[in-house]
Amino acid sequence: MMTDATEGRPLRGALIGHGFIAERGHLPAYRECAGRGGPLQIVAIADSCPARRERARATHPEARIYDDWASLLAREEGRIDFVDVTTPPAFHAEIAHGALDRGLHVLCEKPLTTSPAEARSLLDHALRVRRVIYPSHNYKHAPVIKRVRELLDEGIVGAPSLVTLQTFRTTHAKGVAEWRPDWRRERRYSGGGIAMDHGSHTFYLAFDWLGGYPTAISATTSTLDGHDTEDNVACSIRFPTGMASAHLTWTAGARKVIYTVHGAKGAIRVEDDDLEITTTARGAPEVLRERLPSDWMDASHVKWFASLIDDFAGAVARREWVGKDAEDAVRCIELIGAAYASARRSGREQRLGAASLVPAVTHGGAHGLLR
Ligand SMILES: NC(=O)c1ccc[n+]([C@@H]2O[C@H](COP(=O)([O-])OP(=O)(O)OC[C@H]3O[C@@H](n4cnc5c(N)ncnc54)[C@H](O)[C@@H]3O)[C@@H](O)[C@H]2O)c1
Repeated sequence: MMTDATEGRPLRGALIGHGFIAERGHLPAYRECAGRGGPLQIVAIADSCPARRERARATHPEARIYDDWASLLAREEGRIDFVDVTTPPAFHAEIAHGALDRGLHVLCEKPLTTSPAEARSLLDHALRVRRVIYPSHNYKHAPVIKRVRELLDEGIVGAPSLVTLQTFRTTHAKGVAEWRPDWRRERRYSGGGIAMDHGSHTFYLAFDWLGGYPTAISATTSTLDGHDTEDNVACSIRFPTGMASAHLTWTAGARKVIYTVHGAKGAIRVEDDDLEITTTARGAPEVLRERLPSDWMDASHVKWFASLIDDFAGAVARREWVGKDAEDAVRCIELIGAAYASARRSGREQRLGAASLVPAVTHGGAHGLLR
C-alpha cells in the first residue's frame, strides 16, 4: 500500500522533457509559486537530448539531471512526490504509467495521450493507486477565459446553447532547436496535427461553456503545406445543450483566438484580450467592453501555468485523484479521434459515447468514475 507522507512540506517533483514549454512555461511558473511560498518545487529533470540536459544543468544547478525518465524514477524513489510530463505526446502514456506505478502524482501536458484507450487507462490507473492524474489544460487559466466563466456564472447571456471557437496560427508551434523542432509534423511523435496539438484547448473550453460532453461530431481536415500531419481542421459538434463549431489552423495570416458564446440573453465575444458582451440580462439591451491582458502572443503562458500548478497542488491536497480536468482530457482525445474518423469519411457525423452532463469530481479514490 502506497503511503502519502507529504503533509506539512512542499511537494517535490521531477520534470520529464526539458524543452520549450518546460523551460519557458512550467519552470518559471514553479519559481513564481515558490517565490510566494507555494507548495511545489522541482528537484530533478530528465531529458533524452544531451544538449537539453546541458541547458537544464546551466539554468537549474540545484536539480538532479537524468538522461532518461526510467532511471530518474528508479533513482528518485522516495525523494519525489510527483512528475510533470512535458515530452511530445507519443511518450506521455508510458511515462505517466511509470510514475503512477511508483506512487507519484502526475501533471501531464496536453494532449494527455494520443489515444482514448491510453487516456482512460491512465485515469483507471490513478484511481487504483490513489494518485492524482492532472492534465495541463492551461487555457482555462487565462485571465480573459476566467472572466468568461464569471460572466456565465452571473447569467449575463443565459444558459449557452451555441459556442464558436477559432484558433488562428501562422505556423505549427516549434519545439526546441536541439531536438526535433518540427516533431508536430511527424505523426510518430505527435499522434496528429493541429487537432491533436491544439484541439484539447478548444474542446475543454467548449465542454465548460456548454456544460456537458458532446454526442456527435463531423469534421474535415486538410494539409495545405504538404506535411505528414494536418494543418487545418473544421468541425461541428453536437452537445445535449446545443452546438459548437470550431476551426483550428496553422496556415492563418495572423496569430489570434476568437471565441463566441451565445445564450437566450446575449453573447460574449473574446478576441485575444478583448471581451465584448451583448446582453439583455439587466433589461434594456446593452453592449459592454472589457480588456483583460492575457499574454496570448506569448506562447510560454507562465501566469496561466502558475494558476494551473496551484490547482494541481489543490487536487493533491484534496486527494482528488481523477477530477473534472482529467475526465475532460479523455473526452478531448475521444473527440479528436472522432474528428479524424469523420474526416476520413468525408465529414460523416460520428457518434460519441453516452452523453452526460459534467460529472462530479471523484474524490479519495474509493469509487469509480462517472461516465
Ligand atoms: N499547454 C500549452 O500551452 C503548451 C504549449 C507548448 C507545448 N505544450 C505541450 O508540451 C509538450 C512538449 O512540447 P514542446 O513544445 O515543449 O516540445 P519541445 O520539442 O520543445 O520539447 C520536448 C523535449 O522533450 C525531450 N524528449 C523527447 N522525447 C523524450 C523522452 N522520451 N524522454 C525524455 N525527454 C524527451 C526533447 O529532448 C525536448 O527537450 C507537448 O505535449 C506539447 O503539446 C503545451
